[in-house]
Amino acid sequence: MPLRSAICKVILVLGLGSGAGLVAQELAPTISIAPKRTADPTGPEAYVDTRQSLMAAMQELGVRIDLEAQTADEATFVRLVEDAEVIAALMRSVPLLFPEGTGPHQLPGVTTHASPAIWEERDRFEVISANALAAAETLMLAPDRAALFARFEELETICTACHTEFLEYDPFEGMAGAGPLDEALFEFGGSAD
Ligand code: HEC
Repeated sequence: MPLRSAICKVILVLGLGSGAGLVAQELAPTISIAPKRTADPTGPEAYVDTRQSLMAAMQELGVRIDLEAQTADEATFVRLVEDAEVIAALMRSVPLLFPEGTGPHQLPGVTTHASPAIWEERDRFEVISANALAAAETLMLAPDRAALFARFEELETICTACHTEFLEYDPFEGMAGAGPLDEALFEFGGSAD
């Protein structure tokens, strides 16, 4: 499924959900940006798959804003602002996608780079999530190209802050081939190195 239509579906679901619980329940089986690996679309594995896909989508949209914001013509600027709206919609669901029981080594055969600190210091994780959402909402209201670029840089700082605190790279899990993750995390300051 092309990225944009997958994301539209996500937004639809977010728009339809009346409460956080409902959104979480519906969201996990609905995003399918990456190929589905999970046998049970509502099981804990689906949360890991969904949050990784969601992060990868934010990455793709973010890189586009980063590269094009300063040189965008009017039409491109409008499209980039739409991308920022999608990032904000996705960011809203970040805290919902880390329920208990989806941490490292809790799910056989599933690789997650989420650190146990997410569950040990939940309040702190929620605060950074909220800061990231606020930054994404500020980004999508950028009045011009310069603001879009500057505000993206601010958001990126928060992406990196969360990755530094709450992402862990297990070299043994990575031995099967880390793939694009290393590159992605390098860009956003994760701890993959
Ligand atoms: C509140 C914390 C938090 C914020 C904010 C956050 N991330 Fe993440 N990110 C994580 C965690 C935790 C993982 C590991 C998820 C897993 O493997 O289960 C992750 C994983 C990723 C990955 C790897 C996904 C994959 O394919 O496995 C990318 C890329 C990424 N984030 C990009 C971003 C970008 C871009 C932003 C900001 C626009 C961002 N993240 C904001 C916590 C965060």
